[in-house]
Amino acid sequence: MKMVSVDHVSFSFEDSGIEVMDDISFHVNEGEFLSIIGPSGCGKSTLLRIIAGLIKPSRGSVHYMGKRVGGPVTGMGFVFQDFALMPWLTNLENIKLGLSLTDFTEDKKNGIAVGLMNKLGLSGLGAQYPNVLSGGMKQRVGIARAIAAAPNVLLMDEPFSALDELTAESLRSDIVYMLESKDISVKSIIMVTHNVEEAVELSDRILVLSKKPSQVEKIEAIMHKRPRDRKERWFGRTESDIYAALTK
Ligand SMILES: Nc1ncnc2c1ncn2[C@@H]1O[C@H](COP(=O)(O)OP(=O)(O)OP(=O)(O)O)[C@@H](O)[C@H]1O
Ligand SMILES: [Mg+2]
Repeated sequence: MKMVSVDHVSFSFEDSGIEVMDDISFHVNEGEFLSIIGPSGCGKSTLLRIIAGLIKPSRGSVHYMGKRVGGPVTGMGFVFQDFALMPWLTNLENIKLGLSLTDFTEDKKNGIAVGLMNKLGLSGLGAQYPNVLSGGMKQRVGIARAIAAAPNVLLMDEPFSALDELTAESLRSDIVYMLESKDISVKSIIMVTHNVEEAVELSDRILVLSKKPSQVEKIEAIMHKRPRDRKERWFGRTESDIYAALTK
């Protein structure tokens, strides 16, 4: 089943008239991990915000589970590159922000947030503030907040790029494990990245965008099972294909 469908989406800034993307179409199936990669400034973050219903496309449409997106969609969670945690709230309260649109009782919200903290390796840190956390821990709080309301789709904008490689790698495996364990509500992931290796390691399909005004340059499907070995021959070949499309 199609979870998200992007049809002929174009976007220009109204004030400046600058055209960011031109006629972009693709879809994301249930169970699929899709990465979006493209040159800096080509509109990846803008596209993710359009999918989430945070901004409206100038032309074209986005559908979520068959329904046209006209505003913020509750079935989608959003993970930010810079974590976007509120420093004046405790870690637990930050996670509970993800539940602010629900009418759950405080007890239920606390229960969900504590459960997610345990699942994401944050046990015992609920009463602390984000400033005591490492970058990796902060992003775990960001992920917990994004999945607290049990979204079907997780949108991630360069979620690992502010982390050192070892931390990024352990968080990547946790995300893949969660997706495949069916332990959480998330059925599909759309991730923006500028890291080709990361995209090849994680994705079922990779959408390569051209430079602004961006169009779909290539959609590469990767059938190999995860976890994937970066040293295998197909891995390097796929990376080269993506680089070639990126630099065209
Ligand atoms: N208010 C604005 N008016 C005109 N152009 C803008 C405005 N805000 C952003 N832009 C431009 O829109 C383009 C798309 O921005 P966006 O943040 O979506 O790109 P991106 O692909 O996520 O970039 P990066 O890889 O650097 O994160 C950029 O080229 C940016 O300079
Ligand atoms: Mg961006």
